Amino acid sequence: MGTDEPQGATVYLIVGLPGAGKTTRAKELEVSASALRLTPDDWQMAIFPGDGPTGWQAAERVDQRDRIEGQLVQVGFRAAALGLNVVLDFGFWGRHERAALRWIASSRGVRAEVIYLPIEAEEQRRRTTSRFEAEPGQFQLSDAELKQWQQQFEAPDSDELAGAAIPPVPPGHATWSHWASERWPSLPLQ
Ligand SMILES: Nc1ncnc2c1ncn2[C@@H]1O[C@H](COP(=O)(O)OP(=O)(O)OP(=O)(O)O)[C@@H](O)[C@H]1O
Ligand SMILES: [Mg+2]
Repeated sequence: MGTDEPQGATVYLIVGLPGAGKTTRAKELEVSASALRLTPDDWQMAIFPGDGPTGWQAAERVDQRDRIEGQLVQVGFRAAALGLNVVLDFGFWGRHERAALRWIASSRGVRAEVIYLPIEAEEQRRRTTSRFEAEPGQFQLSDAELKQWQQQFEAPDSDELAGAAIPPVPPGHATWSHWASERWPSLPLQ
């Protein structure tokens, strides 16, 4: 490859629990990698400014959140196809979510990189509490919520972090793109 040929864009998948430091890292990449940062929380707060501390948990809001995310994935991959690095600051708790987006990236000739920000339960409690006290509009997380989320969260394994082969799509889905369009209903089939 010649030195003046484009290297191809990277889509960064930021993975971690609330308070892990995802948006902080995403903002760093925004600068260091000249990346387009897509943070669904920013969009959700801009679109639904009246939501109280628990508004985001309503079933309707969860569905709307998925639709916002689907559009951001679509925009993100379009930007990557145009040569821009992209940060998807989503959290991506599920390993299938990461596999699906890595598959879509690969099908479009775009590099995907999983960035995992681990956090210990105690540190998570400390950070989310100090954020709640410092920033108006932030919600206080209960111990039960934090514990439940830690159990739900599927930490990336070394294969994912190394960008190893993408696992087969779960039965009942023709491709990972079909899986992704069910997970994010506003994301068209690739
Ligand atoms: N490496 C770090 N060490 C210490 N504190 C950090 C670190 N990274 C982020 N923080 C602090 O932790 C808090 C949460 O960070 P941040 O908003 O980046 O997390 P997040 O993963 O995006 O959270 P959320 O899921 O709620 O959006 C902030 O107050 C931030 O300043
Ligand atoms: Mg964040």
